[in-house]
Amino acid sequence: MAFTGLTAFALIAAASVASAMPAVDKRAVCADGVTRVNNLQCCSWAAVRDALIEDVFEGVCGEAAHSTVRIAFHDAIGFSKTQAFGGGADGSMIAFGDIELAYAANAGIDDIVGDLQPFADAHGISYGDVIQFGSSVALSLCPGAPTVRTFVGRKNATAAAPDGTVPDPFNPVTDILARMADAGFSSDEVIALLASHSIAAQDEIEPTIAGAPFDSTPDSFDPQVFLEVLLKGTTVPGGLGPGQGEVQSPLEGEFRLQSDAAFARDRRTACTWQSFINNQALMASRFSAAMAKLAVLGQNTRTLIDCTEVIPAAPAAKGRTAIIPAGKKRADIEASCPTAAFPALPTATGAQTTVAPVPPQ
Ligand code: HEM
Repeated sequence: MAFTGLTAFALIAAASVASAMPAVDKRAVCADGVTRVNNLQCCSWAAVRDALIEDVFEGVCGEAAHSTVRIAFHDAIGFSKTQAFGGGADGSMIAFGDIELAYAANAGIDDIVGDLQPFADAHGISYGDVIQFGSSVALSLCPGAPTVRTFVGRKNATAAAPDGTVPDPFNPVTDILARMADAGFSSDEVIALLASHSIAAQDEIEPTIAGAPFDSTPDSFDPQVFLEVLLKGTTVPGGLGPGQGEVQSPLEGEFRLQSDAAFARDRRTACTWQSFINNQALMASRFSAAMAKLAVLGQNTRTLIDCTEVIPAAPAAKGRTAIIPAGKKRADIEASCPTAAFPALPTATGAQTTVAPVPPQ
């Protein structure tokens, strides 16, 4: 059929009216009459999300949010491809807290268990779900963090993970990479997961300076940690240490883990580490993929439900690239990747950058 000029005009006019109309949301409406989802099984998780944000995280990318991302790692990494132990991301850190919380590498995790266990009990969800779903919701409060693919429906753990599955900050790079490889992670994925240390602080290695963060922007999922860990160490915060697993940091108030310092400078990991410094989007996407893998270790996703749709998008990152802190210069950076030039970076001006502790929640 040949179009006449008039038919063509009518078609174009109809198309422009359609494009001017607001898109119709075809998703199903939950019982609350407001929430819309593709999968009605995710409705109850929207309510869990809101309660977590209000009751546990108090609406901020603060200590409780940080600790939930940390427990997501410690619970899930209780898994081995080669030995018959550990159910992975199964909530054993809570269900068998009397055993696992006594392991030295889990020092300090008891605080967030004290929040998440009663929350899970009150909402009738499993401990594995409150940890991993909680971690995704926690990340959504941190500017720049990616949305992590999020499954729910884990059954409760049937056994405790043994001691030794969680790396210590004083372990050599080779040992940490071997432990992570045994759980299925490449060295690149380990560095991607360490983007989590952009929203992190310590409480346990030096308890007198609890809340001392690993970078100058602990409420933001930005590449600052990847740059600051490469700055020449000059000071030990608190004037006491260094504690076991601590090395000198470059900024007053900032805490540096021995393992982070080693990963940043090791020939196996230095180039991946460096690649994130001026590429926030790369850091976020690689972290998202590795974290999604971590969150279902030991689980069969065919028996779980994908409720990523109720995870909010985090506010946008403040910048694409790390900034050399005020008072530091290019010569203070211990660039360690032998195959790629260190990127050109802006430098902050003003008084020398100092770092404030993350307040307790
Ligand atoms: C691979 C080797 C790793 C080592 C040796 C390590 C070690 C540590 C240590 C010692 C702390 C301080 C704990 C304290 O004193 O309170 C910490 C904090 C933290 N870690 Fe790691 N970590 C590693 C990997 C990871 C991974 C893979 C994640 C998540 C994907 C993660 C997330 C966090 C977070 C979010 C915190 C901050 C917790 C808070 O501020 O309350 N870490 N890590």
